[in-house]
Amino acid sequence: MTGKGGVGKTTVAAALALALAHRGQRVLLAEVEGRQGLAQLFELDPLPYGERRLGEVDVDLRLLAIDAEEALLEYLDLFYKMGRAGRVLRKLGAIDFATTVAPGLRDILLTGKVKEATTRTDDRGRRMYGAVVLDAPPTGRIGRFLNVTAEAARLTKLGPIKTQSEGVAALLRSPMTSVHVVTLLEEMPVQEAADALHELSGLGIPAGKIIINCTLPPLLASTAKVSQAVLKRGLSQLDLPLSLVPGLKKEAEAHLARRAVEAQLRTELAALGRPTVELPLLGDGVDLTGLQRLAGILGDPGPQPADREHHGSAKAEPPGRG
Ligand SMILES: Nc1ncnc2c1ncn2[C@@H]1O[C@H](COP(=O)(O)OP(=O)(O)OP(=O)(O)O)[C@@H](O)[C@H]1O
Ligand SMILES: [Mg+2]
Repeated sequence: MTGKGGVGKTTVAAALALALAHRGQRVLLAEVEGRQGLAQLFELDPLPYGERRLGEVDVDLRLLAIDAEEALLEYLDLFYKMGRAGRVLRKLGAIDFATTVAPGLRDILLTGKVKEATTRTDDRGRRMYGAVVLDAPPTGRIGRFLNVTAEAARLTKLGPIKTQSEGVAALLRSPMTSVHVVTLLEEMPVQEAADALHELSGLGIPAGKIIINCTLPPLLASTAKVSQAVLKRGLSQLDLPLSLVPGLKKEAEAHLARRAVEAQLRTELAALGRPTVELPLLGDGVDLTGLQRLAGILGDPGPQPADREHHGSAKAEPPGRG
């Protein structure tokens, strides 16, 4: 799940994870930004490095805050059997050094851990997770983040980093991956969504849906004429003072102008050729009830509002793997 900063990536990632878990599969919801966004969203203590089942829901949803340093220790253990020696390296500050000095390495470790969780199997060879949803970096960094392993595979000749990087790069280009882009009906997020989709397409990484977040229902038909006469008649029917007419007229016109802009942005989004889903602005904020409501829409979008200037935006299909 990517999108411009603040558009609702974390919220929508959580809602999608819930929707997928409601289908009866075990789902992992992971974050990589080191900000404990998931713990905040679900009002939990900061997540340790380890998958934690969310007890507040009756589905199998697990949370993971991926940490580059912990992931590096895991690798050192896995590839070089370093075990406790790795911990010593950490004490010496070497792990910290490696993950902060080389931001590329950091992203290799983070995406590597996502791949590990995605492909992990139990002792009977069955996939541990039916879906892994990643609350990914914002659109400005998504291409670099997801492509870092392809770059690493190109630059390294041999060894575990090459093998590992090739594996991640291949998974990210396979049909198992879907990068969904969250946007608002505002110019900058829409522009960033378009840029990200072009970039992903250039990198050969499969794009998923465009999720239009925080939409508001229309208060007036787009063809409505807000004349003084209409407003006066309405106000007198309600026994309200006619002095409200100028203010109401101004508000109605602003609303219609806003809707015209939104219609234009919807057209631009539809032209990107991805299925779109619209999520409402939750008036009571994003609590678990709100998330379940968004999950319900993502799991079964149903008919999209008809009174909208949609131009060929496909009706949403059920979400794919996160
Ligand atoms: N559909 C919605 N209705 C109401 N509030 C929402 C909705 N979606 C998100 N929000 C609110 O908007 C704010 C930003 O959402 P969120 O943290 O999910 O965005 P983000 O893209 O992950 O941000 P960042 O780029 O900082 O990680 C939060 O306060 C969240 O509760
Ligand atoms: Mg976030």
